Amino acid sequence: MKTVLIKGARPYGEGDPVDVLVEDGVITDIGALDTPEDAEVIEAGGQVLLPGFVDLHTHLREPGREDTETIATGSAAAALGGYTAVFAMANTDPVADNAVIVDHVWRRGQEAGLVDVHPVGAVTVGLKGEKLAELGTMAKSEARVKVFSDDGLCVADPLLMRRALEYSTALGVVIAQHAEEPRLTVGAQAHEGEQAARLGYTGWPASAEESIVARDCLLAEHANARLHVCHVSTAGTADILKWAKERGTKVSAEVTPHHLLLTDERLATYDPVNKVNPPLRTGSDAEKLRAALAEGVIDCVATDHAPHAVQDKDCEWSSARPGMLGLQTALSIVVETMVRTGLLDWRGVARVMSERPAEIGNLSDHGRPIEVGEPANLTLVDPDTEWTVRGAELASIAANTPYEGMRLPGVVTATLLRGRITAREGKIAS
Ligand code: DOR
Ligand code: ZN
Ligand code: ZN
Repeated sequence: MKTVLIKGARPYGEGDPVDVLVEDGVITDIGALDTPEDAEVIEAGGQVLLPGFVDLHTHLREPGREDTETIATGSAAAALGGYTAVFAMANTDPVADNAVIVDHVWRRGQEAGLVDVHPVGAVTVGLKGEKLAELGTMAKSEARVKVFSDDGLCVADPLLMRRALEYSTALGVVIAQHAEEPRLTVGAQAHEGEQAARLGYTGWPASAEESIVARDCLLAEHANARLHVCHVSTAGTADILKWAKERGTKVSAEVTPHHLLLTDERLATYDPVNKVNPPLRTGSDAEKLRAALAEGVIDCVATDHAPHAVQDKDCEWSSARPGMLGLQTALSIVVETMVRTGLLDWRGVARVMSERPAEIGNLSDHGRPIEVGEPANLTLVDPDTEWTVRGAELASIAANTPYEGMRLPGVVTATLLRGRITAREGKIAS
Protein backbone atom coordinates (compact mmCIF):
# COMPACT_ATOMS: atom_id res chain seq x y z
CA MET A 1 0.00 0.00 0.00
CA LYS A 2 1.04 3.57 -0.65
CA THR A 3 3.12 5.62 1.74
CA VAL A 4 1.93 9.18 2.31
CA LEU A 5 3.94 11.92 4.00
CA ILE A 6 2.01 14.94 5.20
CA LYS A 7 4.70 17.61 5.51
CA GLY A 8 4.36 20.53 7.86
CA ALA A 9 0.87 20.09 9.33
CA ARG A 10 -0.35 21.30 12.70
CA PRO A 11 -2.34 18.55 14.45
CA TYR A 12 -5.37 20.17 16.13
CA GLY A 13 -3.96 23.54 15.00
CA GLU A 14 -1.52 23.39 17.91
CA GLY A 15 2.23 23.88 18.14
CA ASP A 16 4.88 23.95 15.42
CA PRO A 17 4.27 22.12 12.14
CA VAL A 18 5.28 18.44 12.07
CA ASP A 19 5.53 15.74 9.42
CA VAL A 20 3.11 12.82 9.64
CA LEU A 21 4.06 9.53 8.00
CA VAL A 22 1.31 7.14 6.94
CA GLU A 23 2.09 3.56 5.93
CA ASP A 24 -0.36 0.74 5.26
CA GLY A 25 -3.25 2.82 6.51
CA VAL A 26 -1.68 3.62 9.87
CA ILE A 27 0.19 6.63 11.28
CA THR A 28 3.73 5.27 11.75
CA ASP A 29 5.76 8.37 12.64
CA ILE A 30 5.30 12.00 13.64
CA GLY A 31 8.12 14.57 13.83
CA ALA A 32 10.76 16.10 11.56
CA LEU A 33 10.98 13.29 9.00
CA ASP A 34 12.90 12.47 5.85
CA THR A 35 10.80 11.78 2.78
CA PRO A 36 10.78 8.06 1.93
CA GLU A 37 11.49 7.45 -1.77
CA ASP A 38 8.12 5.98 -2.68
CA ALA A 39 6.05 8.42 -0.63
CA GLU A 40 3.30 10.63 -1.97
CA VAL A 41 3.90 14.02 -0.35
CA ILE A 42 1.22 16.44 0.79
CA GLU A 43 2.75 19.86 1.44
CA ALA A 44 0.56 21.08 4.28
CA GLY A 45 2.19 24.48 4.77
CA GLY A 46 1.12 24.74 8.41
CA GLN A 47 -2.50 23.79 7.78
CA VAL A 48 -4.63 22.19 10.51
CA LEU A 49 -4.67 18.39 10.69
CA LEU A 50 -7.76 16.81 12.25
CA PRO A 51 -9.17 13.32 12.65
CA GLY A 52 -11.46 12.55 9.66
CA PHE A 53 -14.98 13.85 10.19
CA VAL A 54 -17.88 11.52 11.02
CA ASP A 55 -21.44 12.45 10.03
CA LEU A 56 -24.10 10.75 12.13
CA HIS A 57 -26.89 12.02 9.90
CA THR A 58 -26.75 11.90 6.10
CA HIS A 59 -29.48 11.21 3.58
CA LEU A 60 -28.15 9.41 0.54
CA ARG A 61 -31.05 8.66 -1.79
CA GLU A 62 -30.09 5.18 -2.86
CA PRO A 63 -32.17 3.08 -3.22
CA GLY A 64 -35.09 4.95 -4.72
CA ARG A 65 -34.12 8.50 -5.65
CA GLU A 66 -30.86 8.09 -7.50
CA ASP A 67 -31.85 11.14 -9.56
CA THR A 68 -30.92 13.30 -6.53
CA GLU A 69 -28.01 11.43 -4.88
CA THR A 70 -26.39 8.03 -5.03
CA ILE A 71 -24.15 6.33 -2.51
CA ALA A 72 -21.24 7.13 -4.85
CA THR A 73 -22.03 10.84 -5.33
CA GLY A 74 -22.89 11.31 -1.65
CA SER A 75 -19.61 9.60 -0.74
CA ALA A 76 -17.75 12.02 -3.01
CA ALA A 77 -19.47 15.01 -1.38
CA ALA A 78 -18.56 13.57 2.02
CA ALA A 79 -14.87 13.03 1.16
CA LEU A 80 -14.62 16.54 -0.27
CA GLY A 81 -16.20 17.84 2.94
CA GLY A 82 -13.50 16.14 5.03
CA TYR A 83 -15.55 13.11 6.11
CA THR A 84 -14.22 9.59 6.45
CA ALA A 85 -17.45 8.01 7.72
CA VAL A 86 -21.13 8.82 7.33
CA PHE A 87 -24.32 7.25 8.63
CA ALA A 88 -26.92 6.94 5.87
CA MET A 89 -30.48 7.42 7.08
CA ALA A 90 -33.08 4.71 6.54
CA ASN A 91 -35.80 6.75 4.78
CA THR A 92 -34.96 5.43 1.34
CA ASP A 93 -37.36 3.67 -1.04
CA PRO A 94 -37.51 0.82 -0.15
CA VAL A 95 -36.89 1.68 3.49
CA ALA A 96 -33.74 0.29 5.12
CA ASP A 97 -35.71 -1.79 7.61
CA ASN A 98 -34.14 -5.20 6.91
CA ALA A 99 -30.77 -6.89 6.52
CA VAL A 100 -30.95 -7.09 2.71
CA ILE A 101 -31.18 -3.32 2.26
CA VAL A 102 -28.68 -2.34 4.96
CA ASP A 103 -26.14 -4.83 3.62
CA HIS A 104 -26.69 -3.47 0.12
CA VAL A 105 -26.01 0.09 1.31
CA TRP A 106 -22.92 -0.98 3.24
CA ARG A 107 -21.48 -2.83 0.22
CA ARG A 108 -22.19 0.01 -2.20
CA GLY A 109 -20.35 2.32 0.18
CA GLN A 110 -17.34 0.01 0.31
CA GLU A 111 -17.37 -0.25 -3.51
CA ALA A 112 -17.37 3.55 -3.82
CA GLY A 113 -14.45 3.45 -1.38
CA LEU A 114 -14.42 7.14 -0.42
CA VAL A 115 -15.96 7.04 3.05
CA ASP A 116 -17.31 4.29 5.25
CA VAL A 117 -21.07 4.38 4.69
CA HIS A 118 -22.77 2.95 7.76
CA PRO A 119 -26.43 2.30 7.11
CA VAL A 120 -28.88 3.43 9.77
CA GLY A 121 -31.63 0.85 10.25
CA ALA A 122 -35.28 1.85 10.57
CA VAL A 123 -36.82 1.48 14.04
CA THR A 124 -40.23 0.51 12.69
CA VAL A 125 -41.28 -1.50 9.64
CA GLY A 126 -41.58 0.82 6.64
CA LEU A 127 -41.17 3.85 8.98
CA LYS A 128 -44.86 3.38 9.69
CA GLY A 129 -44.51 3.69 13.45
CA GLU A 130 -46.63 0.59 14.04
CA LYS A 131 -44.36 -2.39 14.53
CA LEU A 132 -40.68 -2.70 15.45
CA ALA A 133 -38.35 -3.68 12.62
CA GLU A 134 -35.96 -6.58 13.18
CA LEU A 135 -33.28 -4.56 14.92
CA GLY A 136 -31.33 -7.63 16.02
CA THR A 137 -31.05 -9.05 12.50
CA MET A 138 -29.76 -5.73 11.17
CA ALA A 139 -27.34 -5.33 14.09
CA LYS A 140 -25.87 -8.77 13.37
CA SER A 141 -25.87 -8.47 9.57
CA GLU A 142 -22.76 -7.79 7.48
CA ALA A 143 -23.44 -4.04 7.84
CA ARG A 144 -23.35 -4.34 11.66
CA VAL A 145 -25.97 -1.62 12.08
CA LYS A 146 -25.12 0.51 15.10
CA VAL A 147 -27.69 3.30 14.86
CA PHE A 148 -31.44 2.97 14.34
CA SER A 149 -33.78 5.79 13.39
CA ASP A 150 -37.09 6.49 11.67
CA ASP A 151 -35.67 9.91 10.78
CA GLY A 152 -37.91 11.97 8.55
CA LEU A 153 -40.56 10.79 10.97
CA CYS A 154 -40.74 10.58 14.75
CA VAL A 155 -41.26 7.34 16.65
CA ALA A 156 -44.28 8.99 18.24
CA ASP A 157 -45.87 6.00 20.01
CA PRO A 158 -44.35 5.98 23.51
CA LEU A 159 -44.80 2.23 23.90
CA LEU A 160 -42.92 1.50 20.67
CA MET A 161 -40.19 3.97 21.61
CA ARG A 162 -39.86 2.34 25.01
CA ARG A 163 -39.55 -1.12 23.45
CA ALA A 164 -37.00 0.11 20.93
CA LEU A 165 -34.91 1.60 23.74
CA GLU A 166 -35.11 -1.61 25.73
CA TYR A 167 -33.98 -3.75 22.78
CA SER A 168 -31.23 -1.30 21.89
CA THR A 169 -29.52 -1.80 25.24
CA ALA A 170 -29.31 -5.55 24.77
CA LEU A 171 -27.94 -5.08 21.24
CA GLY A 172 -25.46 -2.34 22.18
CA VAL A 173 -26.92 0.06 19.60
CA VAL A 174 -28.42 3.53 19.84
CA ILE A 175 -31.85 4.88 18.89
CA ALA A 176 -31.69 8.27 17.16
CA GLN A 177 -34.94 10.18 17.41
CA HIS A 178 -36.33 12.79 15.03
CA ALA A 179 -38.21 14.61 17.79
CA GLU A 180 -41.48 15.90 16.38
CA GLU A 181 -44.83 15.28 18.06
CA PRO A 182 -46.91 14.77 14.90
CA ARG A 183 -50.15 15.97 16.48
CA LEU A 184 -48.53 19.36 17.03
CA THR A 185 -47.12 19.78 13.52
CA VAL A 186 -50.06 18.92 11.28
CA GLY A 187 -49.67 21.11 8.17
CA ALA A 188 -46.65 22.88 9.67
CA GLN A 189 -44.52 24.89 7.27
CA ALA A 190 -42.20 27.04 9.38
CA HIS A 191 -41.12 27.80 12.93
CA GLU A 192 -44.18 28.93 14.90
CA GLY A 193 -43.45 32.57 15.64
CA GLU A 194 -43.68 36.09 14.31
CA GLN A 195 -42.18 35.30 10.95
CA ALA A 196 -44.59 32.41 10.20
CA ALA A 197 -47.49 34.58 11.30
CA ARG A 198 -46.38 37.39 8.99
CA LEU A 199 -45.98 35.06 6.01
CA GLY A 200 -49.19 33.13 6.71
CA TYR A 201 -47.51 29.77 7.28
CA THR A 202 -48.86 27.15 9.69
CA GLY A 203 -46.44 27.00 12.62
CA TRP A 204 -44.13 24.17 13.79
CA PRO A 205 -43.98 24.91 17.51
CA ALA A 206 -40.86 24.45 19.65
CA SER A 207 -43.03 22.40 22.02
CA ALA A 208 -43.45 19.68 19.37
CA GLU A 209 -39.72 19.00 19.62
CA GLU A 210 -39.26 19.65 23.31
CA SER A 211 -42.16 17.46 24.48
CA ILE A 212 -40.73 14.44 22.63
CA VAL A 213 -37.17 15.09 23.83
CA ALA A 214 -38.36 15.35 27.44
CA ARG A 215 -40.45 12.19 27.10
CA ASP A 216 -37.66 10.23 25.46
CA CYS A 217 -35.07 11.30 28.04
CA LEU A 218 -37.36 9.88 30.71
CA LEU A 219 -38.01 6.70 28.74
CA ALA A 220 -34.27 6.23 28.18
CA GLU A 221 -33.46 6.86 31.81
CA HIS A 222 -36.00 4.32 33.04
CA ALA A 223 -34.83 1.75 30.48
CA ASN A 224 -31.18 2.54 31.27
CA ALA A 225 -30.80 2.91 27.52
CA ARG A 226 -28.89 5.28 25.26
CA LEU A 227 -30.83 7.88 23.32
CA HIS A 228 -29.53 10.15 20.56
CA VAL A 229 -31.48 13.29 19.70
CA CYS A 230 -31.28 14.32 16.03
CA HIS A 231 -31.00 17.94 14.84
CA VAL A 232 -31.73 19.88 18.04
CA SER A 233 -33.31 23.14 16.93
CA THR A 234 -34.67 24.99 19.97
CA ALA A 235 -33.25 26.68 23.05
CA GLY A 236 -35.72 24.74 25.18
CA THR A 237 -34.36 21.41 23.94
CA ALA A 238 -30.88 22.46 25.04
CA ASP A 239 -32.24 23.12 28.54
CA ILE A 240 -33.92 19.69 28.67
CA LEU A 241 -30.71 17.97 27.53
CA LYS A 242 -28.72 19.76 30.19
CA TRP A 243 -31.20 18.70 32.85
CA ALA A 244 -31.21 15.08 31.64
CA LYS A 245 -27.43 14.89 31.45
CA GLU A 246 -27.10 16.27 34.96
CA ARG A 247 -29.39 13.47 36.12
CA GLY A 248 -27.12 10.91 34.44
CA THR A 249 -29.39 10.04 31.54
CA LYS A 250 -27.42 8.45 28.70
CA VAL A 251 -28.49 10.96 26.09
CA SER A 252 -26.46 12.48 23.27
CA ALA A 253 -27.47 15.11 20.75
CA GLU A 254 -26.50 16.69 17.46
CA VAL A 255 -27.04 20.10 15.90
CA THR A 256 -26.94 20.84 12.18
CA PRO A 257 -24.74 23.53 10.62
CA HIS A 258 -27.88 25.25 9.29
CA HIS A 259 -29.44 25.54 12.73
CA LEU A 260 -26.19 27.06 14.01
CA LEU A 261 -26.09 29.75 11.32
CA LEU A 262 -29.46 30.37 9.68
CA THR A 263 -32.68 31.75 11.16
CA ASP A 264 -36.31 32.06 10.12
CA GLU A 265 -35.61 35.62 8.94
CA ARG A 266 -34.49 34.02 5.70
CA LEU A 267 -38.06 32.92 5.02
CA ALA A 268 -39.02 36.42 3.88
CA THR A 269 -37.81 35.53 0.37
CA TYR A 270 -40.33 32.67 0.13
CA ASP A 271 -37.49 30.57 -1.33
CA PRO A 272 -38.08 26.89 -0.42
CA VAL A 273 -34.32 26.29 -0.35
CA ASN A 274 -34.78 27.45 3.27
CA LYS A 275 -37.47 24.88 4.01
CA VAL A 276 -36.16 22.19 6.35
CA ASN A 277 -37.48 19.93 9.08
CA PRO A 278 -37.13 20.88 11.91
CA PRO A 279 -37.49 24.42 10.61
CA LEU A 280 -35.01 27.28 10.90
CA ARG A 281 -35.71 28.90 14.26
CA THR A 282 -35.03 32.35 15.75
CA GLY A 283 -31.73 34.12 16.30
CA SER A 284 -31.86 33.47 20.02
CA ASP A 285 -32.38 29.74 19.42
CA ALA A 286 -29.32 29.67 17.15
CA GLU A 287 -27.28 31.54 19.75
CA LYS A 288 -28.29 29.08 22.46
CA LEU A 289 -27.46 26.11 20.21
CA ARG A 290 -23.97 27.48 19.58
CA ALA A 291 -23.41 27.90 23.33
CA ALA A 292 -24.77 24.41 24.05
CA LEU A 293 -22.42 22.89 21.46
CA ALA A 294 -19.44 24.75 22.93
CA GLU A 295 -20.39 23.55 26.41
CA GLY A 296 -20.92 19.91 25.40
CA VAL A 297 -24.64 19.92 26.22
CA ILE A 298 -25.00 19.22 22.50
CA ASP A 299 -22.37 16.62 21.66
CA CYS A 300 -21.71 17.03 17.99
CA VAL A 301 -22.48 18.50 14.59
CA ALA A 302 -24.37 16.35 12.07
CA THR A 303 -25.29 17.60 8.62
CA ASP A 304 -28.79 16.22 7.91
CA HIS A 305 -27.55 16.42 4.30
CA ALA A 306 -30.84 16.14 2.37
CA PRO A 307 -30.56 16.30 -1.43
CA HIS A 308 -33.75 17.10 -3.34
CA ALA A 309 -34.60 17.36 -7.03
CA VAL A 310 -35.23 20.78 -8.60
CA GLN A 311 -38.92 20.00 -9.09
CA ASP A 312 -39.26 19.17 -5.38
CA LYS A 313 -37.60 22.42 -4.24
CA ASP A 314 -38.23 24.98 -6.95
CA CYS A 315 -41.99 25.15 -6.41
CA GLU A 316 -44.58 26.65 -4.10
CA TRP A 317 -43.37 26.66 -0.47
CA SER A 318 -46.11 24.36 0.83
CA SER A 319 -45.40 21.62 -1.73
CA ALA A 320 -41.60 21.82 -1.47
CA ARG A 321 -39.76 19.00 0.32
CA PRO A 322 -37.85 19.92 3.47
CA GLY A 323 -34.09 19.57 3.50
CA MET A 324 -30.79 21.09 2.38
CA LEU A 325 -27.36 19.89 1.29
CA GLY A 326 -24.73 19.91 4.02
CA LEU A 327 -21.72 17.64 3.53
CA GLN A 328 -19.44 20.02 1.64
CA THR A 329 -20.28 23.13 3.65
CA ALA A 330 -20.39 21.76 7.22
CA LEU A 331 -16.79 22.49 8.17
CA SER A 332 -17.00 26.05 6.84
CA ILE A 333 -20.20 26.77 8.77
CA VAL A 334 -18.59 25.41 11.94
CA VAL A 335 -15.55 27.63 11.34
CA GLU A 336 -17.83 30.63 10.77
CA THR A 337 -20.14 30.07 13.75
CA MET A 338 -17.87 28.37 16.30
CA VAL A 339 -14.18 29.01 15.54
CA ARG A 340 -14.29 32.62 14.34
CA THR A 341 -16.50 33.49 17.31
CA GLY A 342 -14.02 31.93 19.74
CA LEU A 343 -16.56 29.36 20.97
CA LEU A 344 -14.41 26.38 19.85
CA ASP A 345 -10.73 25.87 19.17
CA TRP A 346 -9.55 23.18 16.73
CA ARG A 347 -9.49 20.57 19.51
CA GLY A 348 -13.12 21.41 19.94
CA VAL A 349 -13.78 21.05 16.22
CA ALA A 350 -12.15 17.60 16.33
CA ARG A 351 -14.44 16.74 19.23
CA VAL A 352 -17.73 17.82 17.65
CA MET A 353 -17.01 16.79 14.04
CA SER A 354 -15.14 13.53 14.62
CA GLU A 355 -14.53 12.14 18.10
CA ARG A 356 -17.99 12.41 19.66
CA PRO A 357 -19.90 11.28 16.56
CA ALA A 358 -17.58 8.27 16.24
CA GLU A 359 -18.22 7.38 19.90
CA ILE A 360 -21.98 7.82 19.59
CA GLY A 361 -22.05 5.72 16.41
CA ASN A 362 -19.83 3.07 17.99
CA LEU A 363 -17.04 3.29 15.42
CA SER A 364 -13.75 2.10 16.86
CA ASP A 365 -11.54 3.16 13.92
CA HIS A 366 -12.72 6.74 13.38
CA GLY A 367 -12.40 9.79 15.60
CA ARG A 368 -9.11 8.47 16.95
CA PRO A 369 -6.23 10.60 18.26
CA ILE A 370 -3.56 11.74 15.77
CA GLU A 371 -0.88 9.46 17.19
CA VAL A 372 1.53 6.78 16.05
CA GLY A 373 -0.26 3.43 15.69
CA GLU A 374 -3.67 4.96 15.01
CA PRO A 375 -5.64 4.48 11.76
CA ALA A 376 -4.89 7.25 9.26
CA ASN A 377 -8.38 8.68 8.88
CA LEU A 378 -7.42 12.32 8.56
CA THR A 379 -8.58 15.69 7.29
CA LEU A 380 -6.35 18.60 6.39
CA VAL A 381 -7.94 22.04 6.65
CA ASP A 382 -6.79 25.42 5.41
CA PRO A 383 -8.40 27.56 8.10
CA ASP A 384 -7.93 31.00 6.57
CA THR A 385 -8.81 30.71 2.90
CA GLU A 386 -12.37 31.61 1.93
CA TRP A 387 -14.40 30.12 -0.88
CA THR A 388 -17.71 30.85 -2.58
CA VAL A 389 -20.43 28.21 -2.49
CA ARG A 390 -21.92 27.21 -5.86
CA GLY A 391 -24.53 24.48 -5.67
CA ALA A 392 -23.89 23.39 -9.24
CA GLU A 393 -20.22 22.77 -8.44
CA LEU A 394 -20.87 20.50 -5.44
CA ALA A 395 -20.41 16.76 -5.93
CA SER A 396 -24.03 15.97 -5.04
CA ILE A 397 -26.44 15.42 -7.91
CA ALA A 398 -28.92 17.80 -6.28
CA ALA A 399 -27.88 21.43 -5.78
CA ASN A 400 -30.19 22.61 -2.97
CA THR A 401 -27.69 24.51 -0.85
CA PRO A 402 -28.97 27.44 1.20
CA TYR A 403 -25.47 28.96 1.09
CA GLU A 404 -25.47 29.69 -2.68
CA GLY A 405 -23.11 32.58 -3.42
CA MET A 406 -21.96 32.92 0.20
CA ARG A 407 -18.27 33.39 0.96
CA LEU A 408 -17.25 31.02 3.73
CA PRO A 409 -14.00 30.44 5.61
CA GLY A 410 -12.22 27.08 5.88
CA VAL A 411 -11.25 24.80 3.01
CA VAL A 412 -10.73 21.03 3.21
CA THR A 413 -7.52 20.47 1.25
CA ALA A 414 -7.06 16.71 1.76
CA THR A 415 -8.95 13.74 3.19
CA LEU A 416 -7.38 10.35 3.90
CA LEU A 417 -9.34 7.16 4.50
CA ARG A 418 -7.17 4.44 6.04
CA GLY A 419 -4.10 6.12 4.58
CA ARG A 420 -5.51 6.49 1.08
CA ILE A 421 -6.05 10.01 -0.26
CA THR A 422 -9.74 10.28 -1.16
CA ALA A 423 -9.94 14.03 -1.81
CA ARG A 424 -7.23 16.54 -2.60
CA GLU A 425 -7.51 20.27 -3.40
CA GLY A 426 -11.26 20.07 -3.99
CA LYS A 427 -11.11 17.02 -6.26
CA ILE A 428 -11.79 13.36 -5.71
CA ALA A 429 -8.50 11.48 -5.87
CA SER A 430 -8.50 8.73 -8.47
O1 DOR B 1 -35.40 18.45 6.32
C1 DOR B 1 -35.48 17.22 6.40
N1 DOR B 1 -35.21 16.44 5.34
N2 DOR B 1 -35.87 16.67 7.54
C2 DOR B 1 -36.13 15.37 7.65
O2 DOR B 1 -36.49 14.95 8.70
C3 DOR B 1 -36.02 14.49 6.48
C4 DOR B 1 -35.09 15.03 5.49
C5 DOR B 1 -35.21 14.35 4.16
O3 DOR B 1 -35.19 13.12 4.10
O4 DOR B 1 -35.26 15.05 3.14
ZN1 ZN C 1 -35.04 14.46 10.90
ZN1 ZN D 1 -32.65 13.77 8.49
